Amino acid sequence: MCGIVAYVGPKDAAPILLEGLQRLEYRGYDSAGVAVVASKALKTRKVKGRVADLAAVMPARFKGTTGIGHTRWATHGVPSDVNAHPHLSSDERIAVVHNGIIENADALRQRLEGEGVKFLSETDTEVLAHLVSRAVEETDSLEDAVRRALKSVVGTYGIAVVDAQRPGEVVVARLGSPIVLGIGEKEMFAASDVAALVRYTRQVVHLEDGELAVLKADGFHTFGGDARETAKEPLTVDWETANYDTGGYEHYLLKEISEQPDTIARTLRGRLDDRFHVAHLGGLNMDARETRSFKRVKIIGCGSAYYSGQIGAQLIEELARIPADAEPASEFRYRSPVVEADTLYVAISQSGETYDTLAAVQELKRKGGRVLGIVNTVGSAIARECDGGVYLHAGPEVSVASTKAFTSTAAAFALLALHLGRVRDLSPADGRRICEGLRALPDQIKEILTQEEHIRSLAHKYAASPGMMFIGRVRGYPVAREGAQKLKEVSYVHAEAYPASELKHGPLALIGPEMPTVAIVPDDEMLDKNLTTLGEIRARSGRILMVGHRETDQADDCIVVPKNQNELDPILLSIPLQLFAYHAAVALGRDVDKPRNLAKSVTVE
Ligand code: F6R
Repeated sequence: MCGIVAYVGPKDAAPILLEGLQRLEYRGYDSAGVAVVASKALKTRKVKGRVADLAAVMPARFKGTTGIGHTRWATHGVPSDVNAHPHLSSDERIAVVHNGIIENADALRQRLEGEGVKFLSETDTEVLAHLVSRAVEETDSLEDAVRRALKSVVGTYGIAVVDAQRPGEVVVARLGSPIVLGIGEKEMFAASDVAALVRYTRQVVHLEDGELAVLKADGFHTFGGDARETAKEPLTVDWETANYDTGGYEHYLLKEISEQPDTIARTLRGRLDDRFHVAHLGGLNMDARETRSFKRVKIIGCGSAYYSGQIGAQLIEELARIPADAEPASEFRYRSPVVEADTLYVAISQSGETYDTLAAVQELKRKGGRVLGIVNTVGSAIARECDGGVYLHAGPEVSVASTKAFTSTAAAFALLALHLGRVRDLSPADGRRICEGLRALPDQIKEILTQEEHIRSLAHKYAASPGMMFIGRVRGYPVAREGAQKLKEVSYVHAEAYPASELKHGPLALIGPEMPTVAIVPDDEMLDKNLTTLGEIRARSGRILMVGHRETDQADDCIVVPKNQNELDPILLSIPLQLFAYHAAVALGRDVDKPRNLAKSVTVE
């Protein structure tokens, strides 16, 4: 997805913009550009390609202490130098970078062309540059000109704008696409993602939808949709630049898989109570009476977040005995859901910016639903929109494929289920069992990670298959779904996930030597049934890679993981599948951290 960086202060803007853009590379993009204001003129460079390509064409003297930069992911118009941002007004006075989509761009373009404006690019963004340029003639404030221009726009945007006539000023605005301000010492930054800021400052302010901000070296002012000034409290982010380095690993994906003993420990830290065997979740903002009042739990999220929600629903049903289910937020938001007062809604998001999930939360709030967020990114849009929630504290996830956020979300659900269970019928003994199980997870994950070489060799063995089937029963089913998702997104090997019980109702037709099966076979009440299914697959000459708690000769290959409590086993069973997908992708020479066609956070519809 596109990225924005802006700077105003005493230093040269260009190196700061390039560094910020580099930090946003992980989100995926096809072109990059910067504009700086110098001596009441704009200097611009933009290229199709990487930030390194942009740096290569920057002249040694590219002075200017106010500037904006962008990485573009093409939507309107092909990736090209011309379509790359920033886009300029015809008189080269205004420069704009934009994330999001302007839905009425064609109509605006026609109108402006009718008035004699010449367009250079095919982008929707260029209309903004011309609209601001027209408005700035009629007002003596850039802020007002941007506000006027945005009034004609239908769609979503995060924008940053500079005016050659106003060095020392950047205006940013947000509607549906994130903008975060970074507060420095006599300098200000803005970006679409905290990642671009952490090298320079930890003090940030998130803009709300409809807000606009004016940045100058000595500070910032924010304004709501009604142009009234808004009061903002800066947040301190605890993410570090080290989170955005590969730290000696070949890929972020492997680094983030390997971090999980630590990230799970951070999700649990300070939240387990050994005296009463309960979980302390201070951010829920609910008293015990309210916590007891819910009759149902509905969980929403997208992609891997949704699959972790399926694990969460299972945990809540098992431990709290409240009916719970998970649904893709991208579907939920469109089907006019019935919102009930006695249902607790839980939204999951690593980025906190996924548009489908945000829109679903907003729909729930409009209808009076009580929504908790399980979110990794502190202060993100989804976190702000929810009534309360649980932060994962897993640190930023850089690789496009989610791993550590997935397991931390499952662990956060275990805490929530324990909390909901202990104000209901879950006994202290069962509470203790779950607390002990959760505490054991980090060491057990370390043990799984020692098997990396074994898993690598299996990934090499199976990577050439045209497709793979992933199966699991009950607790194993979401694990199978996430395993298939990981494999297909990073290795592009076709992978299907099915409940093992459904195999004979259709997909068994696919089984044969060409379609190996990854079977999730935990040592739980489903063990015998799962072993019978393995027999059925073998009878059709299907090859089997089993992931479970003990070896079986029903499978061709086995990955054995340590046993935890039945309810918590899905967290551990997921980890070999992450390593399997990673090594399959490496074996096939894929762009592991930035798989084709995917972006880290999907902030568009
Ligand atoms: C899969 C993956 C995606 C995300 C999904 C939701 O590896 O990364 O499926 O899980 O786009 O993203 P967040 O959690 O940021 O809302």
